[in-house]
Amino acid sequence: MFMNILVIHGPNLNLLGEREPGIYGEETYDKLNNDIKTAADGLGISCEIFQSNHEGAIIDKLHEARKSCSGVVINAGAYTHYSYAIRDAIAAIRIPCIEVHISNVFARDEFRSKSVIAPVCAASVSGFGRDSYILAVEGLVRMIERRSDNK
Ligand code: DQA
Repeated sequence: MFMNILVIHGPNLNLLGEREPGIYGEETYDKLNNDIKTAADGLGISCEIFQSNHEGAIIDKLHEARKSCSGVVINAGAYTHYSYAIRDAIAAIRIPCIEVHISNVFARDEFRSKSVIAPVCAASVSGFGRDSYILAVEGLVRMIERRSDNK
């Protein structure tokens, strides 16, 4: 089954490696993307990776994905906690979206334990470090395959 998924990195994730390494690790953004691509190759799927620090650009990309992708893995960064516009975009598109966080958002500042996108995402992965992305990609592929088997 041909599968094309989209991975979206939201604000400040382009600074991985430099940004708060005690929380987000020392590996660079490029290394993370290489690891995601390697995992996608291993699963035999095609994977596009997109990063933006801008809410509207993330929304535009979600809209675009509804036509071209089977599913989305999204780390919306701090937008997770307050962007009703990104939440509405996820709700508007019918493909499954998996919410991802590198850190355990429930074990940090109070404001991070609230996700306004979680209710419209198919599943969430938080706290596995960079592996959160890999686990989300694997889970998304299994979810899409299962849904298509049940058709
Ligand atoms: C994050 C957690 C968010 O609270 C934060 O604003 C981020 C990264 C994570 O991956 O752990 O930018 O989504």
